Amino acid sequence: KCKPSYKVTFIKKNGERVQASGKEGDSLLDVVVNNNLDFDGYGACEGTLTCSTCHVILKKEDYDRLPNDPGEEEMDMLDLAYELSDTSRLGCQITLTKDLDNLEVYLPTSINDARS
Ligand code: FES
Repeated sequence: KCKPSYKVTFIKKNGERVQASGKEGDSLLDVVVNNNLDFDGYGACEGTLTCSTCHVILKKEDYDRLPNDPGEEEMDMLDLAYELSDTSRLGCQITLTKDLDNLEVYLPTSINDARS
């Protein structure tokens, strides 16, 4: 059976809005990769929680309704991200659900690859 597809909008610091879509259970990193989005350096560690380049900033209401809280490893990585905010998460740890359809996420201006 075909999985439903959900819309995600990535908003860059310059205001550019990039529309993409993903399937139930896809992470935001999967969405970036599968839609061939050209976000420089994004997702460098391929979701293994060692880079923080997949940092996204959410609206408060979206942050609060994410099904999973950030785990300890994610928190450690977020500490290394630039432009950290109270509603920051790692894109590789956010998975799409019906409830998150039409999610809008903000990308920071600069990324920190914690591996380098
Ligand atoms: Fe590296 Fe998410 S892709 S921590």
